[in-house]
Amino acid sequence: MTEILKVEDLQIRFIGGKKDFSVVNGISFALNRGETLGIIGESGSGKSISCMGILGLLARDKWRVYGDIRFGENPLPYNDNRAMRPYRGRHLALIIQNPLSAFNQMIPIAAHFYETLNVPNVPPQNMEQVRHQAREILARMRIRDPDAVLDSYAFQLSGGMLQRIMIALALVMKPDILIADEPTTALDLTVQHEIITILQEMQEKQGTAILLISHDLGVIAHLASTIAVIYAGEFVEKGKAEALLECPAHPYTQGLFASRPKFSKERLPIMEGQPPRLFSERRGCAFYPRCKSREDSCMTSRPSAVSAFSGGKEHETWCSRTAPSSVGHIGDGQ
Ligand SMILES: Nc1ncnc2c1ncn2[C@@H]1O[C@H](COP(=O)(O)OP(=O)(O)O)[C@@H](O)[C@H]1O
Ligand SMILES: [Mg+2]
Repeated sequence: MTEILKVEDLQIRFIGGKKDFSVVNGISFALNRGETLGIIGESGSGKSISCMGILGLLARDKWRVYGDIRFGENPLPYNDNRAMRPYRGRHLALIIQNPLSAFNQMIPIAAHFYETLNVPNVPPQNMEQVRHQAREILARMRIRDPDAVLDSYAFQLSGGMLQRIMIALALVMKPDILIADEPTTALDLTVQHEIITILQEMQEKQGTAILLISHDLGVIAHLASTIAVIYAGEFVEKGKAEALLECPAHPYTQGLFASRPKFSKERLPIMEGQPPRLFSERRGCAFYPRCKSREDSCMTSRPSAVSAFSGGKEHETWCSRTAPSSVGHIGDGQ
């Protein structure tokens, strides 16, 4: 499989307040063409900030981003807004949680398609050509009357409709990678299910790689072939979905999955304790204060990755305490 995105040691610091603090603390992952990588974690764990950092969308006066990010062979110039432009839309597309905020209320939906398709370095298209492509993709999104939708304004449409249009706008450019940040969170269950099916269909047709961000285990379990669990800006567990869902090794992941014999559409259970305050500098494991399996050394030494095996399938976990059949250290990096 071709590796299309590689993120090595991504670190993101907030520098816009009285005190600097680290929000993302050295996460690494790779995404293959046509694959879905799901990142799951509680609210505030750094999922959206990671996406924005990768796309170079964080305000430079408030954030610092470090790490080696590659699109195929090329280093991604995430710290240079201008240099990032050719990558956004065509190579890396983003769909976000709140559809209404993604639309300009003053122009009809058709004009959004026009702007999306008429970007530098691609042949210009007139409105007729734009509408032709938009109609086709909206129909694939199961929108019955595409022309009426194209002539509407965002405020006239429902949240579920806007979410579908946002996905259509992302996919009309046939991006290599779709970053979907909580794509179904604001929607009711029926629409959620429809959006998931649409994403699956589009992935099969276009070979799109999807980076799927969610705090909803049901959505992740449904779509992702690889899963990473994030806690306080660090991965605590990462591996093939079957291995991780069947046999979670990290106490945090076990806690998340505990009350969920079946991966349905429920939300994550609320766990005891508070997520760590991000500005406190950490020496040991971030999960230590909430961990049921902790020992003294966890407070002072940072966990390194170990291999956990379940039914012959390997995945990584950043806790040596509870990996039942761990076979040794992989390394300190994530
Ligand atoms: N605009 C901001 N100003 C300061 N801190 C922020 C801002 N946005 C996010 N953060 C910090 O970054 C952390 C991660 O946020 P985010 O990536 O949005 O979490 P989530 O995992 O829910 O997507 C938050 O817990 C918060 O401490
Ligand atoms: Mg978020």
